[in-house]
Amino acid sequence: MNILILGSGGREHALTWAVKQNPKTDRLIVAPGNAGIAMLAEVADIDILDGATVVTFCEENAVDFVIIGPEAPLAAGVADACRAAGLLTFGPSAAAARLEASKAFTKEICDACGAPTAAYARFTEAAPARAYVAARGAPIVVKADGLAAGKGVIVAMTEAEALAAIDDMFGGEFGAAGAEVVIEEFMAGEEASFFVLSDGESALPIGTAQDHKRVGEGDTGPNTGGMGAYSPAPVLTEAIQKQAMDQIVLPTIREMARRGTPYQGVLYAGLMIDGGQARLVEYNARFGDPETQVLMMRLGAQALDLMLACAEGRLAGARVNWANDHALTVVMAAKGYPGAYAKGSPIRGLDALPEDSHHMVFHAGTTNRDGALTANGGRVLNVTARGATLQDAHDRAYAMVDGIDWPEGFCRRDIGWRAL
Ligand code: AMP
Ligand code: GLY
Repeated sequence: MNILILGSGGREHALTWAVKQNPKTDRLIVAPGNAGIAMLAEVADIDILDGATVVTFCEENAVDFVIIGPEAPLAAGVADACRAAGLLTFGPSAAAARLEASKAFTKEICDACGAPTAAYARFTEAAPARAYVAARGAPIVVKADGLAAGKGVIVAMTEAEALAAIDDMFGGEFGAAGAEVVIEEFMAGEEASFFVLSDGESALPIGTAQDHKRVGEGDTGPNTGGMGAYSPAPVLTEAIQKQAMDQIVLPTIREMARRGTPYQGVLYAGLMIDGGQARLVEYNARFGDPETQVLMMRLGAQALDLMLACAEGRLAGARVNWANDHALTVVMAAKGYPGAYAKGSPIRGLDALPEDSHHMVFHAGTTNRDGALTANGGRVLNVTARGATLQDAHDRAYAMVDGIDWPEGFCRRDIGWRAL
């Protein structure tokens, strides 16, 4: 079949790598893609936020299956446009993607279905929000309701920080995303990511992962989109996964169906685990980045079969074939990230690295300039390996990192420390 993947990051490179291995795949096109993706698939520079453009492209190129990577096209209704045109599509409708696009909506769903999460209140004005913080005290968490590219959450350790966050949000720092603010209880514990496919009715867990959000070793410094990840996440034991399915994920999927907005796609539950119980931190309506890189390393070609079963409403009969393995990815970023950084520095040494079912460098932000691979973003490479143990995967990934010649880049040397 002919498959179109939307997106341009390391997540989409990993999806491309897995889908390409499946014999069902004939033509594989990624829009807009990146320099690494272009080595595996055709790339097409189209506006992926415009449903009509995507549909026309699919019709012109006889695309049979569309896989939507990032949240922006989902929130913009690209999955709706594709389904309305009769295209088989992986990814939730705009109405269902509100589980990521509106934090207040997610809280409303948790209330309706009884899913455990932090206690909260919602505000559209600063004065009552400030009064709430004064009454509750710190630590406390202040969140812009809408999509804010991962920057709309302030975990305030002091009341002053929380009040400043409220003023920033209502002052327009996040534009329309901050028109409503959710303030919630600070949850202590260990965070992990749980990935579940849903076809609207049935759900199938497809793996767990943990990422490292802080830029510095020992989980210090500013937050980033993720500096590395590993799978599985040992903190998400079988028992906690079952509790999260029974109390959080399945009730959410039933509630979305009951409202006439069934959730179809991957539901990424960010969980806080404390005292053997998981509570919901947030939902994302897409695969995680860089968590997908480790999930795809472990799932390989079957990822396509699972996404097809999801899109076709056949998840009830689907299952995952697990190897008893581990995967780990190290993010290499441009020096300065997550602050200001330069683009355009050359990256060398990738050609000499192994590339097989246990080793892969996924590209997150690269481009080809006059035939030379150059950095074109903050997070640039995801150096990913698989092994029988997490230590194996770790050692293989860092051996690859050491073979990369990119003086303008950096990485954390301690990815996986919590589990190792
Ligand atoms: P979110 O975008 O909702 O995932 O929030 C970003 C990060 O903020 C999460 O990954 C958590 O590390 C942290 N966070 C969000 N909500 C809470 C909470 N209620 N308690 C503690 N940490 C939180
Ligand atoms: N790695 C976090 C995310 O994808 O949201």
